[in-house]
Amino acid sequence: MPGLTIGDTIPDLELDTTHGRIRIHDYVGNGYAIVFSHPADFTPVCTTEMAAMAGYAAKFENRGVKLLGISCDDVNSHKEWIKDIEAYKPGCRVTFPIAADPKKEVIKQLNMVDPDEKDQNGQNLPSRTLHLVGPDKKVKVSFLYPAPVGRNTDEVLRVVDSIQKASQHRVATPANWKAGDAVVISPSVSNEEAQKLFPGGFEVKDLPSGKDYLRFTKV
Ligand code: BEZ
Repeated sequence: MPGLTIGDTIPDLELDTTHGRIRIHDYVGNGYAIVFSHPADFTPVCTTEMAAMAGYAAKFENRGVKLLGISCDDVNSHKEWIKDIEAYKPGCRVTFPIAADPKKEVIKQLNMVDPDEKDQNGQNLPSRTLHLVGPDKKVKVSFLYPAPVGRNTDEVLRVVDSIQKASQHRVATPANWKAGDAVVISPSVSNEEAQKLFPGGFEVKDLPSGKDYLRFTKV
């Protein structure tokens, strides 16, 4: 049975966090949320990642995206750890909640278990999982990284921009796309529809197949 993945509704769990009790669906509300896990507090890569997310918090907020961290230690440990995170990156503030999961039950329900990392009791720790959840409470994107690989926060932001662009227009974003670049028109859109939907026009790439499916536009 595969764990939580794209297209699934995120379980509406009630979590103990540094900001008090939070229900995931209430927290997502009518916007987007990034729910992301870390193996453990007071570990090196996790500290740099948490500081990076804190440094980008305003960029996520501008896009209507809330942040919710999860690490298996308890809330008191998280509160102590936040002091280290903020000292590591002076000026950054961890303004978003970090959930506790000392029994390691939440990480199972959110498909955040790392099969290779265990605590001193032999229990599995969380991987570096990140779910971008939409206003419909469904998982739009998931990253599953093992403990040694810190995430790239620019990539998280790029993915948010891509998902939001695709939700607003009938487009998708090509390889290595970044905000401001041309997008591609979805295959389900006919050329006749495209003329109406993209009055600024679009460019059809001439390919050996003669099929005009690679169409770039700006939105
Ligand atoms: C880290 O954050 O550096 C880390 C945590 C658990 C295992 C390996 C690395």
